[in-house]
Amino acid sequence: MMATPTHPIHFVGAGPGDPELITVRGQRLLAEADLVVYAGSLVPRALVDGLAAAVHDSAGLHLGEIIELMAAAWQQGQRVVRLHTGDPSIYGAIKEQMAALDSRKIPYQVVPGVSSATATAAALQAELTLPEVSQTVIITRRAGRTPVPEGQDLVSLAGHQATMLILLSVGMIGEVVADLQSGGYPAETPVAVVEKVSWPEQRILRGTLSSIAAQVEEAGINKTAIIAVGRVFAELPPAALSRLYDKEFSHGCRQA
Ligand SMILES: C[S@@+](CC[C@H](N)C(=O)[O-])C[C@H]1O[C@@H](n2cnc3c(N)ncnc32)[C@H](O)[C@@H]1O
Repeated sequence: MMATPTHPIHFVGAGPGDPELITVRGQRLLAEADLVVYAGSLVPRALVDGLAAAVHDSAGLHLGEIIELMAAAWQQGQRVVRLHTGDPSIYGAIKEQMAALDSRKIPYQVVPGVSSATATAAALQAELTLPEVSQTVIITRRAGRTPVPEGQDLVSLAGHQATMLILLSVGMIGEVVADLQSGGYPAETPVAVVEKVSWPEQRILRGTLSSIAAQVEEAGINKTAIIAVGRVFAELPPAALSRLYDKEFSHGCRQA
């Protein structure tokens, strides 16, 4: 009888699209894997092409089938990677997979990835947390087929006037804009929409809350995009400097 395997199944963040944006650990685990189950709707084929592993696209599978596939391989002592887009912790539906593995007493580990949210900031050459502008980042979505809990609707969240990165919602751009405006964002608030960030076909639209819906419609963008909202996305020098590099400011690593 085969001994119960002890090595974990790895949930790995693939990054936002560019195959170079996976972590070194994630890349090593892919190279060592016997089975890779990847989210084919957003993970680029380039990351799984040429691997020694058997490769399955999870796009057409339901939860039970995904778990069965991974559990059967793991039981045979195979090294299994579940490859998720961006960072697995953000809209990755990993909790239900982890719970199913828990119930089978199969160990697992998570390897983080570059989220499309932070890749969007990079593409926009933006800092999400500017002194005296925003010290808070909200990653959220508009309610669609998946509802959002009470108090987390865009109208309520807009009241914070924080930096917002809105996923899974570009197909409702008109409603997003209406919610943000009724929550208190002024019409001239900078907004960018980044489609397929880090892919060769990446597109960036920059505008304001009053212009962005028409820009998105004209560009025909209706999925795989992030709506970035807030004054940190203004293409102007910051109003206040960070204290970290202020020559008058002492901290643990430097005396003024
Ligand atoms: C199911 S969520 C997965 C998010 C992913 N876990 C992450 O950290 O990027 C899918 C949504 O993420 C955003 N997204 C994922 N990849 C993207 C990309 N390359 N460019 C722009 N948005 C992306 C879109 O809003 C898309 O609707």
